[in-house]
Amino acid sequence: MRKERVVVGLDVGTTKVVALVGNVANGLIEIIGMGKAESHGLEKGVVVDIGRTISSIRKAVEEAENMADVKIDSVYVGIAGKHINSINNSGTVSINRPDRIITEDDIHRVVETAQAIQLPPASEMIHVIPRQYIVDGQDGITDPVGMTGTRLEVDVHIVTGAITAVHNLVRCVESLDIGIEQIVLEPIASSLAVLSSAEKELGVILLDIGGGTTDISVFRGGDIWFSKVIPIAGEHITNDITVGLQTPIEEAELIKKQAGTALVESVGEDEKIEVATIGGDEKKTVSKKKLAKIIEPRVEELLDLAMQEVEDAGYRDLVPAGLVLTGGTSLLDGIVEFAHQRYGIPVRRGKIPQGIHGLRDIVESPIYATSIGLLRYAIETKDFSKRRYDRKKGSLINKLFAWFNRFFRG
Ligand SMILES: Nc1ncnc2c1ncn2[C@@H]1O[C@H](COP(=O)(O)OP(=O)(O)OP(=O)(O)O)[C@@H](O)[C@H]1O
Ligand SMILES: [Mg+2]
Repeated sequence: MRKERVVVGLDVGTTKVVALVGNVANGLIEIIGMGKAESHGLEKGVVVDIGRTISSIRKAVEEAENMADVKIDSVYVGIAGKHINSINNSGTVSINRPDRIITEDDIHRVVETAQAIQLPPASEMIHVIPRQYIVDGQDGITDPVGMTGTRLEVDVHIVTGAITAVHNLVRCVESLDIGIEQIVLEPIASSLAVLSSAEKELGVILLDIGGGTTDISVFRGGDIWFSKVIPIAGEHITNDITVGLQTPIEEAELIKKQAGTALVESVGEDEKIEVATIGGDEKKTVSKKKLAKIIEPRVEELLDLAMQEVEDAGYRDLVPAGLVLTGGTSLLDGIVEFAHQRYGIPVRRGKIPQGIHGLRDIVESPIYATSIGLLRYAIETKDFSKRRYDRKKGSLINKLFAWFNRFFRG
């Protein structure tokens, strides 16, 4: 009934797996089902235990299926990890036919030439995203089909990932008899969920600070220019608290959320909290300032590393819309203020934009930004002409699956 309008996003994160079912009508997404499971098979955004990852995915998918009352047979799945790299490149072809009208075929040709790059060792392309086309020197064109010209150029953003990391994720999903519509870089998915088009136009940095990874992306002129994943996030803060306060990891996680802050200066000297001790029943009293002094340096390190990546890539001064934070760790008290003070640029928590409704709690929490972004990715095909390209010729990633199936399944 509803089924043909349903899209599913699968976010396989370091702390949780989320399957989100969206019902799409007139470009609007209504969330009709959600399943969530704890994740134990990933480290720093990458699958390290296939069995445990499969059982988390199974649980999340079954829950989502029950809630939405649909059978999930294919998903858009997110990928992250420090094996991810991005490169910008361009390609040129000439239009030699007498009518000089640019066709779909010319688009395929020019995107293909732009893909001729030296890949990092043992890696594959995940995305080839055309940013703009240039026809006879005129730039800023998003869809040149039907235009007249003699020279067609394209600027692309290419995202690559390690073959093994991609394979392992694919194996987990496919072993549950679920097909993959597309693998989507998590920073790209999150950006579709929380950035406004005005911010993307002006220039903005998005940080998705999760449990195991911080995903960085930079947008300018409406398009993605830079993406990178660094392996430090919320779990590191929790670990620091475990060590610093000599407390069990579950307790550290709890007090981080309840009493933790990234701003030492915001805490009074006499504010105290009760903390469980390791192996004992007793609680001990700790000052909130001590907790903040554990958290703040880790947040500083994490944000500095991310900002350094942006600086090294040359975009530090090209982002007037500043910094947008999402992912679970963006909920940490004081993190927005801390970042604003440290870098002197506008900083805000990401909000889910118009066009998404249903299950309000989910839609509004930064923990689900990636899953929601995967649904948006699924419907916003026109922004990613690569997908058109995919369907016609089969992307490298599809070829990779075919190769994988041949070798591993006989
Ligand atoms: N209120 C809060 N204050 C501080 N940290 C929080 C809060 N709520 C959640 N977190 C942290 O957010 C992290 C989980 O975020 P998220 O769900 O975005 O991660 P993930 O998608 O599973 O992981 P990743 O994207 O890194 O693979 C955990 O480290 C958790 O402690
Ligand atoms: Mg995540």
